Amino acid sequence: MQSWLAVEITSADIILNTLILTRPDDLHLHLRDDEQMKAVLPDTVRRFARAIVMPNLNPPVLTTEIALKYSQRILAAIPANMRMHFEPLMTLYLTDNTEIAEIIKAKASGIIHGIKFYPARITTFSDAGVTDIAKCSAVLETMEQENMPLLVHGEVNDLEVDVFDREKIFIDRVLIPITHRFPGLKIIFEHITTKEAVEFIKDTPGNIGATITAHHLLLNRNAMFQGGIRPHFYCLPVLKRETHHIALIEAAISGNPKFFLGTDSAPHSRDAKESNCGCAGIYTSHAAIELYAEVFEQAGALEKLEAFASYFGADFYGLPRNKGSITLIKESWDVPMELKFGREALVPFCAGRSITWKILD
Ligand code: DOR
Ligand code: ZN
Repeated sequence: MQSWLAVEITSADIILNTLILTRPDDLHLHLRDDEQMKAVLPDTVRRFARAIVMPNLNPPVLTTEIALKYSQRILAAIPANMRMHFEPLMTLYLTDNTEIAEIIKAKASGIIHGIKFYPARITTFSDAGVTDIAKCSAVLETMEQENMPLLVHGEVNDLEVDVFDREKIFIDRVLIPITHRFPGLKIIFEHITTKEAVEFIKDTPGNIGATITAHHLLLNRNAMFQGGIRPHFYCLPVLKRETHHIALIEAAISGNPKFFLGTDSAPHSRDAKESNCGCAGIYTSHAAIELYAEVFEQAGALEKLEAFASYFGADFYGLPRNKGSITLIKESWDVPMELKFGREALVPFCAGRSITWKILD
C-alpha cells in the first residue's frame, strides 16, 4: 500500500476518527507453545501480517528442524475463522555450541530470519544462552557472510552490575566489540530501553537497527512501584527512568528507519508473575498496535506510525512490505482483567483500564 496516510494524514483524518495503516509486522514476539500459544496467537494474527518469533522455548529452538516443526504448530494453531494470511518468521537460539553448519542450513531453509543471542541466565529460558560471545566468533563470521541477522538481548549477565545499568554496560563491553570485529553483520538491538542505546543506534551504520516495545514507550520505572509492587509491569530489560523513556519516544517518532516496532509481548500465567520470584514479561499482543497509536498520538506524531510499524522493520530484514491494511478507530474499550492462557489465566497490559484506539476486523 502506498503511504498516502503517512504523507497526507491531516487533522481531518483524525476528526473522522479513523486510521488506516498498511498491515504491520511485529519484529519481536514470544508465542510460547501448545495451549498457551493457541490462547495468545489470535491477538497477533488479528493485527500483524508477520512476526519474528523468539526461540526461548523450553527446550530452546536450536536447529532449523526444530524451528520448522514449531512454525508448523504455529500455522496449525491459527483459528479456522481467521482466514487472514500470517507468516511466522522463525529464529534460532544461539549457544556456545552452535555450529557453522547450522547457520548455513538455517539460511538455506528460507524460514529462519535471525539468530537470537541471549547472554546466559539473563532472562526467561536463557539458561542455555551464550556464556561468552567470544566462543561464537566463527558462527558470527558465518552469519556476516551469509547475511543472517543477529538478534541481541542487550544486557550483561553480570550480577555485580546494577540492573538498571546492564544495557548501557552491554553496549561498551559486548556490542561495540562485535560491531568492530564483524562490521558487515546485521544486528538488531532488541527492545532498547535507554538513551545510550538510542544514541548508539543513531551513530552506527545502517546494518544495525533496534526494536522498541509499546510498554517501554508508555511507561517509566515508577509504574513498577505505583502504590505497591506491580509484577505485571516487570519485564527485562527492566523499565528505566523518565529521561530514557523520553529518548525512546523521540527515537520512535523520529522517522529514522533504524528504529522499528517489536512488541516483545511475553505472556506468563498470573501465578508465574504473582509469586515470590515472578517472571519477567509483559503481555501486549491483545492491543499492540492500538498502544503504539496512543504513544504516537500523544506525541503529536500519528503520521509517523505507519512507517515505524509497517515499513522500517520489513525494510531492515529485507522483506517485502505488506500489501493489506488494518483500520483503527478512535473509540475507547475496556481491557479485561484477565485472559485465558491455556488452563491458566494471563493478566494483559492495561487490565481493567481503557484504551482509546480500537481495531476493526
Ligand atoms: O521480559 C522479558 N520476557 N524479557 C525477555 O527477554 C524474555 C521475555 C520472556 O520470554 O518472558
Ligand atoms: Zn523478548
